[in-house]
Amino acid sequence: MKEVQTMKKKDIQKLYDFLSAPKTTSQIATHLGIKTENLHNLLFGLDFKSLNLFSSRILSGENLYFLKSQIESFSKIEVPPRAWYYTAPILPEPGKIPYLRIQFLPSVDFKKITIVPISDLHYGHEGFNDDKFIEYVDWIKANKNVFCFLNGDIFENAHPDSPGGAIFDQRVRPKHQPPMFIEMVAPILDKILWAQPGNHEGRSIKKADIDPLFWFCQLFGIPYFDQPIYVDINWKEHDFSLFCQHGSTGALTEGGKFNMAARPTSWTDFTMFYVMGHVHDEITGSSIRRCRIVKQFKNGKVREYMLVDREQYIVVVPGWIEYWGTYAARKGYHPTSQGTVALHLRSSGSYEASS
Ligand SMILES: [Fe+2]
Repeated sequence: MKEVQTMKKKDIQKLYDFLSAPKTTSQIATHLGIKTENLHNLLFGLDFKSLNLFSSRILSGENLYFLKSQIESFSKIEVPPRAWYYTAPILPEPGKIPYLRIQFLPSVDFKKITIVPISDLHYGHEGFNDDKFIEYVDWIKANKNVFCFLNGDIFENAHPDSPGGAIFDQRVRPKHQPPMFIEMVAPILDKILWAQPGNHEGRSIKKADIDPLFWFCQLFGIPYFDQPIYVDINWKEHDFSLFCQHGSTGALTEGGKFNMAARPTSWTDFTMFYVMGHVHDEITGSSIRRCRIVKQFKNGKVREYMLVDREQYIVVVPGWIEYWGTYAARKGYHPTSQGTVALHLRSSGSYEASS
């Protein structure tokens, strides 16, 4: 039996979910695999950050415990100083081109920076792999050269009329999903470069014009776009380009998914990374684009016209939910991947995508 004092961060995170509805002393003890003695004092000794622990006595003589957030408590969560700034309105304007330019500060002084797309988290789904994601958040926090962006379906956000009766597959109610997600990513709020919704956020957008991801971004000053995003990142005097979409396809084969991710290459100019989520799979491919460039020498007079070969990456990003016991297994889909891929930008100006 482990003691509450030795509980790890991920154990406490599990309590966030578990105590979103009231639980008795014995239920909590069983859930955590600990003894019931002194549980009250031990629980009140834990740091639930902006969630507050409440207790009440019931007729059986046991205590009930539950966690509740207070809206004003979000203001207590401070965003660590960012090492970058951007040109884009936080409030998207109708008809505005979804273009984002990010400028990294010279203090981001590494041989490379790594950007990880976080897509299809489905926070609140019973199959969400919280242990793995908490480890990932810790890894992003610990590495100063690692940044991320949110690529849609961050919240499970299942409604009564969602396909396949998905409302019953939720471990956390939709209204509790944003505050619990905030607790989870609070350590890396300075590292989230931008966000866009997926079809799961789209469920409440369609019904009520409310996107929980939009309000998350509003709270913490994160650039938000409600459509695929064109991004240029300037770092170490180099420009790196991305086109990121959540994706919308029912493709079940590797080829079909890859083709959907690659489709924007037919209507966009040369772009280094094309990123797509939605299909919960991991596929990375690259191809060469032969580009015209004009090289201008320092005296400003001599120009040289050149053809150069540039690598272009098509990246399909996995999700974060388990396969067995979820709709993917029930429907007989190909086993899904979990986690994310990495986009590496080097100080030399070179770049690559890797698993
Ligand atoms: Fe999706």
